[in-house]
Amino acid sequence: MSEQKRLPRHVAIIMDGNGRWAKAHALKVAQGHRRGTETLRAIIRESSDIGIEALSLYAFSTENWKRSPAEVSALMSLLLEYFTSEIDELDEKNVCIRILGDKDGLPGPQRQALIAAEERTGRNTGLKLNIAINYGARDELLRAVKALAAKAQSGEIAPEAITAADLEDALYTRGLPDVDLLIRTSGEMRLSNFLLYQCAYAEMTFPAVLWPDFSLADYHAALDAFGKRDRRFGGRNE
Ligand code: IPE
Ligand code: IPE
Ligand code: MG
Repeated sequence: MSEQKRLPRHVAIIMDGNGRWAKAHALKVAQGHRRGTETLRAIIRESSDIGIEALSLYAFSTENWKRSPAEVSALMSLLLEYFTSEIDELDEKNVCIRILGDKDGLPGPQRQALIAAEERTGRNTGLKLNIAINYGARDELLRAVKALAAKAQSGEIAPEAITAADLEDALYTRGLPDVDLLIRTSGEMRLSNFLLYQCAYAEMTFPAVLWPDFSLADYHAALDAFGKRDRRFGGRNE
């Protein structure tokens, strides 16, 4: 009988390296992003099949608007294409989609497709799939502070009575467990403004493989490494 593996409840992935992949293959950057969506599809399916509770994927940051208009527009087109073509399968797999980030800052068709995906799958009970689009952790925290300040001003809550739970309820990730495992591909070792609060005690792994090349074997290697980590949360495991 095989040993039951200790799986993370919540996996977060910074899908990085599409640009370098495109360059290495003498292709346009948009082609790298397109190949990246194939990895995305495979990782979502696998996560659902093996019973991961929550998967959060960084697709577009609040800082990614700095890229060229051509690249931003290619990413936005791909986003729309992805949600249009995948929604049936995701819904059939009982996946519950949530968007992390400011949808109001997106072009109309993208915003509508994301809202439709959330509404259609909102009651599904399988994998909680969170896609971070126009997301930045600092922006998320600032919004939470403003929401709590407004509640305090209106008398709904007393400032001194604000709890960590109140703060967590004001984040895009409301109701989700903290991130257990953070994976960033491409070898970069930084968070780039992703889930700063939620990753407080995340185990991290930085595989040196570019996102379009990230395989199911690489994913399982990261999950296996997680299973071997000694998590202490500030305490002591004797
Ligand atoms: C990650 O790949 C995807 C997004 C940021 C949308 P990059 O485009 O950042 O790839 P590199 O870092 O340039 O290789
Ligand atoms: C983080 O990657 C954002 C996404 C993967 C969506 P970046 O490629 O934008 O991050 P930096 O600029 O290298 O830190
Ligand atoms: Mg990058």
